[in-house]
Amino acid sequence: MTVFDAATAFSLKDKVVIVTGGGTGIGKVYSQRLAEMGARVVLADIAAKEADEVAAGIVKAGGEALAVATDVSDAAAVDAMVEKTVAKWGRVDGLVNNASLMSALPRGDWFKIPIDEWDRVMAVNLRGIFLCCRAVYPHMKRQKSGRIVNISSGRFWHGTPNRLHYSTSKAGVIGLTRSLAREVGDDNIGVNAVTPGLTLSETQMATSSSNYLGGQEQTRSFKRPQVPDDLVGTVLFLLSDASAFITGQTINVDGGQLMH
Ligand SMILES: NC(=O)c1ccc[n+]([C@@H]2O[C@H](COP(=O)([O-])OP(=O)(O)OC[C@H]3O[C@@H](n4cnc5c(N)ncnc54)[C@H](O)[C@@H]3O)[C@@H](O)[C@H]2O)c1
Repeated sequence: MTVFDAATAFSLKDKVVIVTGGGTGIGKVYSQRLAEMGARVVLADIAAKEADEVAAGIVKAGGEALAVATDVSDAAAVDAMVEKTVAKWGRVDGLVNNASLMSALPRGDWFKIPIDEWDRVMAVNLRGIFLCCRAVYPHMKRQKSGRIVNISSGRFWHGTPNRLHYSTSKAGVIGLTRSLAREVGDDNIGVNAVTPGLTLSETQMATSSSNYLGGQEQTRSFKRPQVPDDLVGTVLFLLSDASAFITGQTINVDGGQLMH
């Protein structure tokens, strides 16, 4: 029977957490904040230079971080990234499956999506999560503990048009989360998802019009822009012991835009 320890329930001190896509956008902010909270953060990003720079900044500020150039759709690269993590810190406590093809994708009619683009989105956004979960699983199973946080999207609730492959992949993230939670429950591994609303990450701002970005605000209960830091508390909670009995769930973080 778990006993709630008020001193450590929300602590990530010395926990080893992998953040995929941790080099830019929202993932960069997760990496920086988790490190500030005392976690040992692995930034696994295909954007190797950016991940290196963020990791160096974390270390300079007194935190612990390791950047590993990783294409999450590549099984060998993912396995090597997790091996490097375990070689350095001996364990894996948390995995934030944040990497995705999103800002890199054009918005447009569903029937004009090139087939190879559809396949690449599925490979990164879904196979990538499967491969990362598969790679950390033996370590979390051995430890008899682990927390996996899968980043989906508010598109799942809303049915947002104009990136059908992306929306489909993010719905798949929730199916994966639910079924995997049941498969690894006996190993004491929690698996949950987060659905962010439209968030002003540096990458989103660079690739979206101000009309598109501003159009969401009036439909929220909290009528202001959503920024990456708005998501950090939920991810922290789902990685921490405080959420130990929550699994298979999806938490929506969008300032009260969509309700379910
Ligand atoms: N920004 C938003 O409005 C918003 C809304 C809902 C959900 N999300 C989700 O939140 C997460 C972060 O969003 P963002 O705005 O920072 O997205 P983004 O597309 O700008 O960044 C994604 C990150 O993933 C990395 N990446 C891409 N392909 C990769 C691969 N093959 N292997 C490893 N890394 C790869 C990129 O280099 C980048 O660091 C994504 O999963 C996104 O789908 C974002």
